[in-house]
Amino acid sequence: MSTRPWTATVLTIFPEMFPGPLGHSLAGKALARGLWRLDAVDLRDFATDRHRTVDDAPFGGGAGMVMRVDVIARAVDAVVARGAPGPLLYLSPRGERLDQAIVRELSAGPGFVALCGRFEGVDERVLEARPFRELSIGDFVLSGGELAAMVLIDACVRLLPGVVGDAASLEEESFAEGLLEYPHYTRPQEFEGRRVPEVLLSGNHARIRAWRRERALELTRRRRPDLLTAPAAAACCAAREPGAAEPPSTASLERDPP
Ligand SMILES: C[S@@+](CC[C@H](N)C(=O)[O-])C[C@H]1O[C@@H](n2cnc3c(N)ncnc32)[C@H](O)[C@@H]1O
Repeated sequence: MSTRPWTATVLTIFPEMFPGPLGHSLAGKALARGLWRLDAVDLRDFATDRHRTVDDAPFGGGAGMVMRVDVIARAVDAVVARGAPGPLLYLSPRGERLDQAIVRELSAGPGFVALCGRFEGVDERVLEARPFRELSIGDFVLSGGELAAMVLIDACVRLLPGVVGDAASLEEESFAEGLLEYPHYTRPQEFEGRRVPEVLLSGNHARIRAWRRERALELTRRRRPDLLTAPAAAACCAAREPGAAEPPSTASLERDPP
């Protein structure tokens, strides 16, 4: 078994943006404890002119600049040659939409090499010449891939062994079983006339489990019915305890249109 920690290698023209938010809280503590590694590599180190140029005007004309294939290929080859582990990823709005299944898959591997685009993006040929997987964090356009890489790294790192103190919290959260998570409550028991659902104060763990599953199902049905057709959610629904009590309504669900 490899003793190398999970490693994110990030190719960027803004290496100083890292670790940024990843240096704080869970991810930051885990980074300090050596549970994962971060290597932010400056793409400009692989330019060959004295201005360290990484981009050029697009063939065919049009607005914006394009990141050069030769500079990126040299950077990729260099980090791979020095042992950067994992698949090559290009953060891109054109990519496969990131979801928890992909996060789980990447987190279970040795890490990844993430290429962050800027300007209009990268010369298409680098995506053909090297085995890049394109990943999008959503249907909107960021000004660069760095924030997208941070989102992906954060989502992966929190699944690494030892990062989250109570691993059980990962088993119950949104998407773990293909459902959105049930609502949470803490003190005070009453706020502006809204009481915590009685079942949560009952101490009856079987009833609480059943209630939470019902709420998760109801919330998913209302907000993200598309998730219920996915295999993980279908299995979860099939495993539902027969005859589970109808859950009392809660304030948080009343916010959603029927
Ligand atoms: C201004 S964007 C380029 C957008 C590109 N011209 C297009 O229309 O698809 C610059 C860079 O930001 C990153 N980026 C933007 N939106 C993203 C998203 N939704 N997911 C992942 N990366 C994104 C990509 O690395 C991209 O190359």
